Amino acid sequence: MSPSSTPKFKNPRAKYNFQGRTCSIAGVGAYVPERILTNADLEKMVNTTDEWITSRTGIKERHIAAKDEFTSDLATKAALLAMKRAGVTPEQIDLIVVATITPDMPFPSTACLVQRKIGAFRAAAFDLEAACSGFIYGLEVAQQFIMSRTYDTVLVIGAEKLSSIVDWEDRNTCVLFGDGAGAAVLQNRPGAHGLLTAVMGADGRKSDLLFMAAGGSRSPATAESVSSRMHYLKMEGKETFKNAVQAMVTAASEALRRCELDISRIKCIIPHQANRRIIDAVGDRLGAKPEQLFANLHKFGNTSAASVAIALDEAVTTGRVQAGDLILLVVFGAGLTWGAAVIEW
Ligand SMILES: CC(C)(COP(=O)(O)OP(=O)(O)OC[C@H]1O[C@@H](n2cnc3c(N)ncnc32)[C@H](O)[C@@H]1OP(=O)(O)O)[C@@H](O)C(=O)NCCC(=O)NCCS
Repeated sequence: MSPSSTPKFKNPRAKYNFQGRTCSIAGVGAYVPERILTNADLEKMVNTTDEWITSRTGIKERHIAAKDEFTSDLATKAALLAMKRAGVTPEQIDLIVVATITPDMPFPSTACLVQRKIGAFRAAAFDLEAACSGFIYGLEVAQQFIMSRTYDTVLVIGAEKLSSIVDWEDRNTCVLFGDGAGAAVLQNRPGAHGLLTAVMGADGRKSDLLFMAAGGSRSPATAESVSSRMHYLKMEGKETFKNAVQAMVTAASEALRRCELDISRIKCIIPHQANRRIIDAVGDRLGAKPEQLFANLHKFGNTSAASVAIALDEAVTTGRVQAGDLILLVVFGAGLTWGAAVIEW
């Protein structure tokens, strides 16, 4: 539908007078490393069972990057695919945003390393850290630059090599995470609504639910920080679960409210792929039908900032999402952070 014909929902951006300007996803791409780590493999590493992991999380397997394969490599592969599908050249890209908690190194940014690998030398580049919510934070950043006419083409990537910060001796966490990357090219595309709204939220008072203690200015790497396993992620599973459900429901409801949309109008809900029980609880509380929910975590586990980007790529490439459909993305992560976005595809 063209933005000028009778509206079927409210476009919250209209009040900012963005006439003739939209932010559309022109192409998506994803990449996961070759090696698959199954629940059966994990049974040999820690005291766990396929039955426990499947029934408590819905995860069956995850992909693990090779020793010499880094977050920027995964990000680059996803980005090149998204660029190809969008039909954009490296020279057209104005800005690269990489959402990640596992950058190749603290600096330079992974976005700069990706810029080098894809040859987008006209682009500005920076990393964004909002943990598992990073991709939606990235979409909103891109939208602000595009709607304000600062940039025309922005590449947003969610990419993680979580296997590098997972404690492979901790059964509470190691069964949950995987590696991968998802990317989207965002552009001003007249004649389409594209990204209608993106909600972002945070609560730093709950930063101790999910964190990695060492490696920053507070606890630089020492022999002691390594031996006391402070360079691995730590999580309070139960509390994180409760907060995830609540925050995702609140964010999704706010995004729908802004667009004056009922949940029944959404063709595909793509939630953060952390736990099947979280996805089902969120769907239930939003009043969604099971067939509206998209889930692929059984294949990939939780890939943090890459999670909804990988899922969006699969929803689009398998035809689950068609032109004109309304999509709801909803995420949650360490920080705490959360977000939701409504997109007309
Ligand atoms: C981690 C999570 C799967 C645990 O599920 P849960 O239903 O809360 O399970 P509990 O924490 O009550 O653990 C139950 C038991 O299973 C055990 N357990 C934990 N991991 C296990 C594993 N991999 N295999 C077998 N047993 C395990 C626990 O030690 C506990 O044993 P205990 O009762 O003897 O102490 C769940 O809390 C969760 O998904 N939380 C959110 C995680 C998340 O999404 N994080 C990322 C946010 S972006």
